[in-house]
Amino acid sequence: MTALEQLEQTVEWLRSKGMKSPEVGIILGTGLGELANAIECEKQFSYNVIPNFPIATVEFHFGKLIYGNLGGKKVMAFQGRFHYYEGHSMDDVVMPVRVMKMLGVKYVLLSNAAGAINLDYNKGDLMMIDDHINLQPDNPLRGPNIDELGPRFPDMSEPYSKMLNEKLRSIAKEKGVSLHEGVYVSVPGPNLETRAEYRMLKMFGADAVGMSTVPEVIACNHMSLPCCCISVITDTCDPNNLSRLSVEEIIATARQAESKLNVLYKELIESL
Ligand code: HPA
Repeated sequence: MTALEQLEQTVEWLRSKGMKSPEVGIILGTGLGELANAIECEKQFSYNVIPNFPIATVEFHFGKLIYGNLGGKKVMAFQGRFHYYEGHSMDDVVMPVRVMKMLGVKYVLLSNAAGAINLDYNKGDLMMIDDHINLQPDNPLRGPNIDELGPRFPDMSEPYSKMLNEKLRSIAKEKGVSLHEGVYVSVPGPNLETRAEYRMLKMFGADAVGMSTVPEVIACNHMSLPCCCISVITDTCDPNNLSRLSVEEIIATARQAESKLNVLYKELIESL
């Protein structure tokens, strides 16, 4: 079966189970699953029952797809994403966004947990991604182009939708939520970075670092699917004052800060 045939089979299965007309797609990052609980759920599936879906291996990811109503829209939310560091192929990593596009989703809202390279940011802050740097060792568009999804050489001049970001900016202002705007760099992981690497990432022009998101955003741009992403800053990456960090701390901070993210995304969905 070709990659496209696999996607079509998955989409057909989801449609047959009642996921008929999603308008907004959501992918929730590490420690950030709570928004899915705000959805008036009509259907939900563990990833392991969805045909052709990879199995989420990281235990702190829920691995669940939820379909229902949020902010007056039909939404589908992936609670837990696939990371390259888990051993998944890039095709697997971007399967959720491709499936969403094929089901008719018009906008994709992403979230992630990230470390602050910009030392003006604090733990628990939010950063709306304005642009990114891809340091992943592979690309979801490598190989024969799937012409049905998009062009061979997609443009990346506006990777994150200007319209969605403008809305987020004004919602944040209205709600009194402070929202940074910056550049996200995606590294392969799974190890955190060395001090020398943090210095390098700062020189590159990054404000925040994480291990996800960019593959999905590349796939969204390939399909001309407008997307946005908010990073929850879970730690600061100061090369001159670096303390030990565990993934448990990252998750705990993400959980504490995620209610602010949920307010912004709920309002954004309502405004679409
Ligand atoms: N690097 C450093 N800190 C982080 C990361 C990362 O990839 N993700 C969340 N906090």
